[in-house]
Amino acid sequence: MKQKRLKIESNRSLNETVYEMKLSGICGAAIRPGQFVNLKLDGLFLRRPISVCDAEGDLLTLVYRTVGKGTDQMSRMKTGEVIDTLLELGNGYDLSAAGKQPLLLGGGVGVPPLYALAKNLIESGKEVTAILGFNTASDVFYENEFRTLGAKVIVTTADGSYGTKGFVTDAMPETSSFFYACGPMPMLKAVYHKTNGLGQFSLEERMGCGFGACMGCSILTRNGTKRVCKEGPVFYKEDLAWND
Ligand SMILES: Cc1cc2nc3c(=O)[nH]c(=O)nc-3n(C[C@H](O)[C@H](O)[C@H](O)COP(=O)(O)OP(=O)(O)OC[C@H]3O[C@@H](n4cnc5c(N)ncnc54)[C@H](O)[C@@H]3O)c2cc1C
Ligand code: FES
Repeated sequence: MKQKRLKIESNRSLNETVYEMKLSGICGAAIRPGQFVNLKLDGLFLRRPISVCDAEGDLLTLVYRTVGKGTDQMSRMKTGEVIDTLLELGNGYDLSAAGKQPLLLGGGVGVPPLYALAKNLIESGKEVTAILGFNTASDVFYENEFRTLGAKVIVTTADGSYGTKGFVTDAMPETSSFFYACGPMPMLKAVYHKTNGLGQFSLEERMGCGFGACMGCSILTRNGTKRVCKEGPVFYKEDLAWND
């Protein structure tokens, strides 16, 4: 874990509630896809965890949805302001498991953490299919960013106003060498129950410290209690025991 004061280079809206923030001052090579950062915001005791969307050179990209005090404060921050940031948190995805044709499944703000993953997999010669799920056409973001990387992209919307009508599970191909899923819990559980294939899930849990000290983010797995912030946030399918 590292603590740094990162400078905001840009902070723009991608749709009504989702923003993309770029911060400078990192060492991109030290950050793995699937890891997260923990941001100290003015007047808030607990830091706010946000996944790494991209980390390249000295630039960190975060994509976040405004849901409460912390993310609302972030959306109003300006270029040049600095944020005290804990970096290199969590385990990240297992890229060595990807096989030849990995499948990436993202829902809403579960899409951005898959961006750095897609980039890394494509750079290492994998044929990546990314299924990006949203509620409606105006929610869609990052479709072109994934295409530009060279991924085959399928967008789904629950109301059918853009792309394929339905959920990411409705567009899942029969086979893939390995899947990586990130999104809201109902989506993750639907993927879990739909596929017999091997894969990993990126989980969210309310966090205290964010670096393994408080046990506040513990979940029960097939292999005992694990901290989402430390042993996760990425877990293999076979570690999870979701019966519902
Ligand atoms: C590992 C991890 C990665 C995440 N990555 C992203 C991301 O890339 N983009 C994104 O938009 N959101 C992400 N989240 C969710 C994000 O942390 C919360 O939306 C955010 O903390 C809400 O803060 P708030 O002050 O705006 O909301 P409030 O509701 O006011 O927050 C109150 C408290 O609840 C916690 N909290 C609220 N919602 C969540 C949640 N879903 N998960 C964990 N803690 C929560 C806050 O951290 C805070 O301590 C991630 C969460 C985790 C655990
Ligand atoms: S948030 Fe403290 S141990 Fe995970």
